[in-house]
Amino acid sequence: MANRLIPGRKVVADAPDLLTLQDAAALIGKTPSNISYLVQYKRLARYNARGEPVSRAPTGGLRVSRSELLGYVESWNRRVRSRMEALQIGDMSLAFHEVPERERTKHVHRLHPYLGKFIPQLVGYFLTRYFEQGQTVLDPFCGSGTTLVEASERGIDSVGIDVSAFNVMISRVKLAEYDSQAVEEEVFDISRRTAEFSAREFPDGKGARIKREPNGSDYLETWFAPRSLREILFFRDHIPEYEHQDLLRVLLSRTARSCRLVHHYDLATPKVPVRAPYVCYKHMGKTCEPVTTIVPRLRFYSTDTVRRIKEFQTARRPARSLVIEGDSRTVKLEDHLSSSGRVDGVFTSPPYVGQIDYHEQHRYAYELFGIERKDALEIGPKTRGKGESAKADYARSMAQSLRNVRDQFSPRAAVLLVANDRLGLYPGIFEEAGMRIEKKFERPVEDRTERDKRPYSETVFVARLR
Ligand SMILES: C[S@@+](CC[C@H](N)C(=O)[O-])C[C@H]1O[C@@H](n2cnc3c(N)ncnc32)[C@H](O)[C@@H]1O
Repeated sequence: MANRLIPGRKVVADAPDLLTLQDAAALIGKTPSNISYLVQYKRLARYNARGEPVSRAPTGGLRVSRSELLGYVESWNRRVRSRMEALQIGDMSLAFHEVPERERTKHVHRLHPYLGKFIPQLVGYFLTRYFEQGQTVLDPFCGSGTTLVEASERGIDSVGIDVSAFNVMISRVKLAEYDSQAVEEEVFDISRRTAEFSAREFPDGKGARIKREPNGSDYLETWFAPRSLREILFFRDHIPEYEHQDLLRVLLSRTARSCRLVHHYDLATPKVPVRAPYVCYKHMGKTCEPVTTIVPRLRFYSTDTVRRIKEFQTARRPARSLVIEGDSRTVKLEDHLSSSGRVDGVFTSPPYVGQIDYHEQHRYAYELFGIERKDALEIGPKTRGKGESAKADYARSMAQSLRNVRDQFSPRAAVLLVANDRLGLYPGIFEEAGMRIEKKFERPVEDRTERDKRPYSETVFVARLR
């Protein structure tokens, strides 16, 4: 059927071309908020249900044009392809740029935000080629557990190590086996109780001022509105009454993260708390309000968490997984493996020099649950910068980590390591760890933001024991 909506035309009587945000998201494998982002940024025009161009639409009444949407996607893909071709990398199949968002973030992969996570499809691609069902893959820098989750989908046993206790919690929560019904009951019960508590304590719907909570902290009182903080502390303090405690902590942490008093345009590195309505650069100069209650988001994330857990219970195959909290340079891996336990290879994306402070990115969770931080053991933290001594420490630490775990490798173990090694440190690191680089795959990395950054590539090193 011919498209009836032509951009610029005023009114279209019969408009089969129209889509709700949900339908538009389903059509191109994105989320409704991705579509609303495109609308906000004027990449797509707004229509009402009659196909009239509008500047605002009532809740649920906003429509976008199917043909405009498909045109936008096509031009975006063309742009990405040409930028990647400019990198002159032959193997475009490793870009995964046409994998829809819902696949990139399938089931438990989006249980909690995490800066520095890699694409599950990249992990899957290499696990399928270098590992078999029943073997064991090690990720000595497992972060939020992407390697382990993907291994489990393929019936491959996995071991992860991470120095950050909260990252370990996220990974363990993803990998635990659940009775989905029991999870659903608990998640909805504690969320309902929190909403009831909020309605009782704040009957006029306003956020009351609170005195300093004995369980609070300067950080929590600074970054959350008083009402949000009361709700968060209520939820947290009732977690011990349930069985799936860490799952509830991860749900609360995800909710709390998105309810911090931060500007929408400064979610990753907030500097000052926002306490009044503000003009938002991210939303085209719209006036945005700080979040004063967690209840609506808690409801949304509760449903989302239950759905993701259920999906993964059906996607996974029988496989063992183990997540160790420790420093990869010194952890005694043999103490955690069974006596015959061997590692058949590694798949990992380690930290890089001066890029991210991994504890700090989840500060709200450490404060909320009183989890011990071990920042000083992080390899290559951002706070140490990228100077000569930071680079030398990084290279020494990475070689030490690989040397430390290699004693548990089977003789033909493949060590696959993903890094954007712009400083050229890895040849020396592998050498120092007693390994030789067998092969390198160059992978174009797509710029997934609207900003015009230069495309870059990263390397997947394949190394073997000498
Ligand atoms: C790039 S991230 C890994 C992300 C992971 N591939 C994922 O998809 O979630 C690197 C991880 O290394 C961890 N790390 C840093 N220093 C470490 C150390 N000394 N021992 C173990 N893990 C460390 C950080 O906490 C971080 O989670």
